Parts: sequence; C-alpha cells; structure tokens
Amino acid sequence: MTYQQILIIDFGGQYNQLIARRVRECGVYCEILPYKKATVEEVRRRAPAGIIFTGGPASVYLETSPHIDGEIFGLGIPILGICYGAQLMAYTLGGRVATAPKSEYGKTATEFEDSVMFKDVPKKGITWMSHTDYIAEPPKGFKITSHTAVCPVAAMENDERKLYAVQFHPEVNHTEHGTDMIKNFLVSACSCSCDWSMGSYAETAINSIREKVGDGKVLLALSGGVDSSVLAALLAKAVGSQLTAIFVDHGFMRKNEGDEVEAAFKDWDINFVRVNAADRFLARLEGISDPETKRKRIGEEFIKVFEDEARKIGRVDFLAQGTIYPDIIESGAGDAAVIKSHHNVGGLPEHVDFKEIIEPLRLLFKDEVRALGNTLGLSPKLVYRPPFPGPGLAIRIIGEITREKLEILRDADAIFREELEKDGIARNINQYFAVLTNNRSVGVMGDGRTYDYTLALRAVTTTDFMTADFAEIPYPLLGRIAARIVGEVKGINRVVYDVTTKPPATIEWE
Ligand code: XMP
Repeated sequence: MTYQQILIIDFGGQYNQLIARRVRECGVYCEILPYKKATVEEVRRRAPAGIIFTGGPASVYLETSPHIDGEIFGLGIPILGICYGAQLMAYTLGGRVATAPKSEYGKTATEFEDSVMFKDVPKKGITWMSHTDYIAEPPKGFKITSHTAVCPVAAMENDERKLYAVQFHPEVNHTEHGTDMIKNFLVSACSCSCDWSMGSYAETAINSIREKVGDGKVLLALSGGVDSSVLAALLAKAVGSQLTAIFVDHGFMRKNEGDEVEAAFKDWDINFVRVNAADRFLARLEGISDPETKRKRIGEEFIKVFEDEARKIGRVDFLAQGTIYPDIIESGAGDAAVIKSHHNVGGLPEHVDFKEIIEPLRLLFKDEVRALGNTLGLSPKLVYRPPFPGPGLAIRIIGEITREKLEILRDADAIFREELEKDGIARNINQYFAVLTNNRSVGVMGDGRTYDYTLALRAVTTTDFMTADFAEIPYPLLGRIAARIVGEVKGINRVVYDVTTKPPATIEWE
C-alpha cells in the first residue's frame, strides 16, 4: 500500500517539525525535505499530492537566501507557502516582497476573505505572526485573502494554479483554526483522503520489514526506553523468532521498570535476553562524579555488555536501531546540512558482525512511536511513561553513584510521579523527575536531629526539549509530595522545587 504524501520543503524555519505533525494529525502522511535537495526532478520522482514550503529565517531578496527553481510552480502540484515560503512564492512569481514598516510578532488580529484556505473559518480571528518582511504586492493572478492592520497580504491564493500562501503560521496552536486551514489545503486543494493512521502504518511497516529481512536474523539492543521497546514489538510482529532482543539492564532505570520491560516481552515469540548488568556498571562508575565521564562510561559499558551477549549468537544479518524522525531530520538552513544524531547509549557496537542496519522508526515522531506501541499492544504504562535519558538515574544523582543513593532516588522519584499522575496534572507536563543532590542539610525528625540529602523535583513543559518552562504545580500538591517523600524515604529530609527555565538551565541537572 502506498500513501498519498505531502512533501514539506524545509527552508530552515523553527516550526517545520510542527507543520509535519499537523499534516499527519490530519491523517495525511508527509516527509520533510531540505530545500537544497528539493530539485524539480526529485519532486517529480516523489509525485506528492501537495507541497508545503516552510518558514525560514532569511529575506528572499538576499543572494545567500534559500531559493527554489521556479519550475516547481508549473508541475501542477498544489503548493502552500508559509511565512518565508509565502514570500518566496510571491518573489519567485513576480510579486513584490519588502521590509514591513512594522514587524509583527506573536498573536495578531487577522481578517479573512472567502477562499479555499479559510473555508468554514470565522471572518475574524487570531493568527501567530513572526516576520520582518512581508508581501507588499502579490504576483499577477493571485487574490488577497487575508490581511491584518499592518500586513496587507496576510494570505493570497491563485486557486486555478492551486497556489496558496499564508504569512502567519497555521501550524502553531495560537493560530485559531490553524489546523482547519491546513486541512482545507489538504482536502480541497490536494484532494487528500486523510486516511493515514497508525494501524495502516504498522501493517505497511511490518510488511516491508518482512520483505527486507527475509529469513535473516535480526539483533536489537533493547535499552528499555520507549523507542527501543516499540521497535522490539514491531520487529516481533514482523519476524518473530528471527529476532533476538538483548535487554541490557544497567541498573539505572526507574522503580520496577526493568521488570516491566521483561514482563512486556518475555512471553512473545522472540529470543529475549535480559542482562542484569548493574554490578558491571556500578563498578565502572565508582568514584566518578563528572557528568560527561558518567555518560561516556555508561555508553561504552552498554556496548560492551551488548557485544558480550551478541557474540554468543554469532553472525546476524541486521542490527535494528530505534532512531526516530527528530534524530535524523536535516536542517535546510545554513550551508552544511546538519544531521542530528542522538545515539542514546553510546553509538554502534564495533565487534558485532552484521550486514546492515535497519531503522524502522526513522520516519516517526515521538508521539507517533507511542501510538504505534499502542497499536501493537504494548502496555500503556510502558508506552506512555515520561521520557528518560539513556544514562538513566546515573545522571540524576549528583556526584558519585552508590547503591544506597540509587535506592533513595528510585523511591522518591516513584512517589513524585505517582502523585502527579494521580492528580492528573502529569498529562500537561512533558517531563518530570526527581534529582538526588549531593547536598546534605540539618533537619529534625521526632526528637532527633538528621543530616540527610536534599531532593530536587523537576517538572517542565516543552514542545521540543530545546527550550522549556518549569511546570506550575500548585503549592498544596507540592506540599503533599514533599511530606510523603520525607516521611517515606529514609535519607531525605528536605525537598526543593526547581523553578528555572531552559535556557539558562538545562532540563536534567547533569
Ligand atoms: P537537557 O538536560 O539537555 O535535556 O535539557 C534535553 C532532553 O534530553 C534528555 N537527555 C538525554 N537523553 N541521553 C539521552 O538519551 C542523555 O545523555 C541525555 N541527557 C539529556 C533529557 O532527559 C531531556 O529530555
């Protein structure tokens, strides 16, 4: 089965992934392509149902700015230009783009005319603007379909040629009816049927894995995180006992998580190997306080443990990796295409003999990975748990790691998460966890003096984990959590809440 596809041409804007997510939320499959690769031949080869030009940081009339071959407008494929993409469409087709007398940034009152893009959208509303240039005059054949107090062409379209442009960002939540506008483009202009779903995606993915793997052997390093767990489930459905999943339990997982991962997989028809390697990892980390050294050693040890186990199996054909879309999206900005590669646990094994790497999740966003896990029947507890860094609790214990500190943190962290989840507030928080600081302070418990650790609680809201806000947890709830932790966890006599944003702080403490 092939899907209708929307091609998103990336000019380096900050909301590009968001555009892709919105399109997929509308039930249409899409991929992002850096503008430098978006040649007319490539676009023809892909034959998308429609194209979206993203925003970008530049001015269209600078020589160094990203441009596009004008031929693309003549392919008969509907195109929606957003922000820089809108200006680029106007500029390339002979309209006039200029520096706006006044930049618009943020929520902006906007008026709309009858048009394909704004079908069933109220005539007045709020859009999210972020621009210093604007379209001063649309190209010939275009009609203006929206304006604001300072932006004469907040949207334009040439319905005959199926070309549409919006100066604002419909993909940003602050734009009222933004998703409806995108859907109008997808349905009315591109004739998309909006029937792409995780169920059909899973079926296609399973079939293509089977085709590729044949009767070969597949090896997976299961870290216990959401991505590798979902990948294990997908591979299990696709190739069953041809899969060996080696679950390296480094001993730094949250409370009961290692057992939950084992419980999720041990009855499946795959070769599931759990290696309880906590002793090895702790030995490698003895006396180590520096965060980067911790990360490095954990990464190295992970590979070593994995290799030791993999050697017992001998040659395999495929090594499966849980790479997901945000890890590989190339940025269209700048001269060199930057590829973000985030290997959770320290890169590739050197001493495992395999033919090829497969990355079946490479086109999915994190929330889609979760939806896929759900579709494949993994327990919601495993699929929807908050994100966890590869090195686990090891980078949530400041300073040297000991068994005792791990126990303390595990129990305190479990209480924090349990209370947030019970309250319901956890649904609105993107990451939440406890940090065991290296600080001890004086307290009083019963009639006695204590000299115990300070625990820090961290909870943030974020969309991309590049910037984050601290979550506004109500004081009474924080108070209850602190009381439970100092009451139930021996070794902690003080609890503090971290109220810094990222930047300047990071989300994790190490
Ligand atoms: P920071 O602390 O840099 O974290 O604001 C941003 C996001 O990345 C996660 N993180 C890691 N994930 N290995 C990982 O797999 C790591 O070493 C690592 N360090 C941070 C962090 O949990 C947050 O979601």
